[in-house]
Amino acid sequence: MTVVRTPLVVGNWKMNGSFEANRALIEALLIALAQKTAPDVGVCPPFPYLPQVGALLAGTNVRWGAQTVCEHRTGAYTGQVSASMLRDLGCTYAIVGHSERRQFCGETDEQVSLQAVAALDSGLTPIICVGESAEEEAAGKTLAVIDRQLAPVLATLAGVADEGKGVVIAYEPVWAIGTGKTPTPEGVQAVHAHIRERLMAAGLVQTRILYGGSVKGSNAATLFALPDVDGGLIGGAALDALDFSTICTAAAIRAV
Ligand code: PGA
Repeated sequence: MTVVRTPLVVGNWKMNGSFEANRALIEALLIALAQKTAPDVGVCPPFPYLPQVGALLAGTNVRWGAQTVCEHRTGAYTGQVSASMLRDLGCTYAIVGHSERRQFCGETDEQVSLQAVAALDSGLTPIICVGESAEEEAAGKTLAVIDRQLAPVLATLAGVADEGKGVVIAYEPVWAIGTGKTPTPEGVQAVHAHIRERLMAAGLVQTRILYGGSVKGSNAATLFALPDVDGGLIGGAALDALDFSTICTAAAIRAV
């Protein structure tokens, strides 16, 4: 059986944007993408801008999502946003377990797995981030860290009916995020192949594995040509319409 995984490129805007800047970015992006073959594309602005971005993208092929989601369904969780609220806002995606959330908000592997299930239960596609720190990489612990982070996710998903449906994994070495450094292509492929092995063993055949960490228009084609890289999660370059659209094209070409 040939498995076709449509490439996916998602922009993580982080805590950037304004009504004016968002409008300019989306308008430029739609013009740039209209002239190119695009893979599945999504953008994840900060929560307050989801209605604006949703309105600008309505009727286009570009989808939108959130940068995190609460693992609880409803109730006394001040400041949190639930998956069903994101669904109300037309979201398709929810990034969960980004290293900045793990680092600054103390999110744990278990919590991230519950966030993924909460997203799935509301019909969102969770983009589950994993990745090792510089210290862990230097100590040769990359695969062990990935396994530790994936374990609760895979265990929790095993209990969810109709496994897999739309879960996405993003491998993001923490030391590569926003630094301009990336692992070698061989290094990226080795980690992705390892994640693929874990996913296949769990029956998650269709699951896409994105690479994230200093992806730019200039290195996207090399990274996306790797056999187990199914697209990218893009930070800084997602704020530049031309660079982001070049990255999207690199992913689309891979699909052919
Ligand atoms: P970067 O960020 O592309 O700016 O390195 C990636 C991410 O944090 O998702």
